[in-house]
Formats: sequence, structure tokens, C-alpha cells
Amino acid sequence: MRLPRSVETAAVEGKRVLVRADLNVPLEGGRVADDTRIRAAIPTLRLLLDRGAAAVTVCSHLGRPKTEEDRAKYAMAPVERRLRELVADERLHVLENTRFHAGETKNDEGYARELADGQDLFVNDAFGSAHRAHSSTEAVAHLLPAYAGLLLLSELEHLRRLLGEVERPFVLIAGGAKVEDKLAVLEQLGGRADTVLIGGKMAEQVRVDNPLSFAVELPVDVVAAREFAADAEHRTVTVDAVPTGWLGLDIGPATAAVFGEHIRSAKTIFWNGPMGVFEWDAFADGTRAVAQAVARADAYSVVGGGDSVRAVQELGLADEVSWVSTGGGASLELLEGKELPGVAAIPEA
Ligand code: 3PG
Ligand code: MG
Repeated sequence: MRLPRSVETAAVEGKRVLVRADLNVPLEGGRVADDTRIRAAIPTLRLLLDRGAAAVTVCSHLGRPKTEEDRAKYAMAPVERRLRELVADERLHVLENTRFHAGETKNDEGYARELADGQDLFVNDAFGSAHRAHSSTEAVAHLLPAYAGLLLLSELEHLRRLLGEVERPFVLIAGGAKVEDKLAVLEQLGGRADTVLIGGKMAEQVRVDNPLSFAVELPVDVVAAREFAADAEHRTVTVDAVPTGWLGLDIGPATAAVFGEHIRSAKTIFWNGPMGVFEWDAFADGTRAVAQAVARADAYSVVGGGDSVRAVQELGLADEVSWVSTGGGASLELLEGKELPGVAAIPEA
């Protein structure tokens, strides 16, 4: 894999630097609900400020605004507030949501020129958005001398270890709901894994019409619920005994034990997607068990994708896995073997 040149090699003293970060964080009641991505952006901002940049202007998208009303909902103010708590420096500026500009998602050069105006350098540190060819991630990188930020590089360095020769057994764990999005990467990585464990909604689809070219481990039992609700009536049953009309909302304990055995013996692990509806307590045990097994394994372990990352964070296990990726879609596309447009636009190291 080609690595882009690092911000560490840029002469930044006295320069005005535009930084694209991925500050697309969850909001709740007008506040930042999880600041992981904001904290992950700080090392690059600090480096620029410490090395004497004249001004550091940060831009990011936030959510997927569509209507006029969305402008209030997705304003950057709460993100800026949190960022300023973490980095108090008058040279730091935060632009409004890039997606308030119609040109952004079209990779419009006009909007890229607006962003580049008055800047000397561009640093892309937005790994989570690197799979998007947008004005702030792609077009702008052709208008200014462009460099990769520290987070972007760390992500590439950690994830590429899964692309080449890996220490075996290599166990791939897949779950979650966005089945179509993930099949391609599953096919690509799964063929190279020694064991593929599939839970969550993904498991149902694979069981029904297995589109994969290799053998996988599917749940032997599930926590079935009468309806899709946090307080739904539920019971643990074998997969062939799910009452008609009921839904499997978590893997059962027998499955968690089988998965745990595989994970314990692994030397390389990639996990994307929860085993069930982890946000609801009654259906969280399977994901919790997998998270604990991954954390305990003596392996190179990478967790990517919003919900599995959230599970690892909430359980306080983030420090016990080798790498927690800030990119969901981006890490999947990278592992599929695709070149990320936001990375490709930066000159090589
Ligand atoms: C993400 O959260 O996956 C990234 O910030 C990209 O957001 P998007 O899927 O709306 O482009
Ligand atoms: Mg996404």
C-alpha cells in the first residue's frame, strides 16, 4: 500500500494551514455524545501549533444535512466548543459544516477554492471520510501542498497489517446490520482468514442464501424477541427453534462460547459489527462476550466500525485491543483493497 507524505515532513512555521478532520461525532440534545473523533484529531493540531503555524483552520462535515432545518441540527458549534476545551489556542479556527455547501459532496472545485483561499498548506487527517471524494477531502488536496495528518497515517499503518501476511490463526468477526455494504470486504478478507465468525443480522442473511465462497461459523443459538423493542419478551433458543415471527436480536451463550474459543486461539483479529442490538441491555451479552474475548486474546486485534467500537469503548476495553479505528466505511473500503480518494490525492511519502 502506498503511504502519503506526513505532516511531520512539512515546513509549517509561519504558515496558514487548512486541516480536514473527521469531527462527525454523535450529538445528543445539542451536546457531543462521544468525543472520540475530536480527541483523535488533536495530535495533528498540536503538532501544527507547536511547530509555529500562523493559523490552523479545521473543517469537517457533521451528519448528513438535507433540509434548511438540518442547519440548526448539524451546526458545528457543539463540536467547536468541545474542541476548544481540549485545545485552547487563538490560532485555532473552526469552519462551519462543510456539507452546508452544496458543492462539497460533488467534489466541486469552486467550493474547494473557497476552502483553499488564503491558506498555504492542506493537511488531511480525516481517515473516517477518506473514502469520500468530496471538495474538502479530495479536490482541495490538488489546490494546496497536501500532507497526511498523524491520525490518517496511524490508521493506514495499523490497517495495512491486515492486508499482507498475517500471523495465524487469523479470525475475522463480522456482525451488524449493513449487510450489503459489508459483503465485499467479507469476501475479500474472509477468504484469507482461517475462521470467519458471523453474528448479528448479517448471520441471518448469510444463513438464508450464503453468498460467500468459504465456510463460516454461524450462531447455534440466539436470544429471540417477540418484537423489535428494548423491553420485548425474549428467550434463548437454538437457531432452529425461533418461534414464528420472532426476531433473533443477539447471539446466545452457546454461540458466544464457541466464538470465544476461536478468538482465544487467534493471533490476528479483525472485528466489525456487533453481535446483536447492543444498545439494549437484554441483547448486549453476545457483543459484550466477544468484546471481552477480543480484549483478552494474545493477538494483533483491530476493531473498526461505529457500533463495535462503541461496544469496546463502553466496556472500557479500548486500551486492550491493538487498534480502534475511527473509520467505519473507510476501514472497510481500505480492507477491500480499494484506494481511498482522500489518501490518493496526497503526494506519496
Ligand atoms: C462516518 O461517520 O462514517 C464518516 O464520518 C463519513 O460520514 P458519511 O458516511 O456521512 O460520509
Ligand atoms: Mg458511515
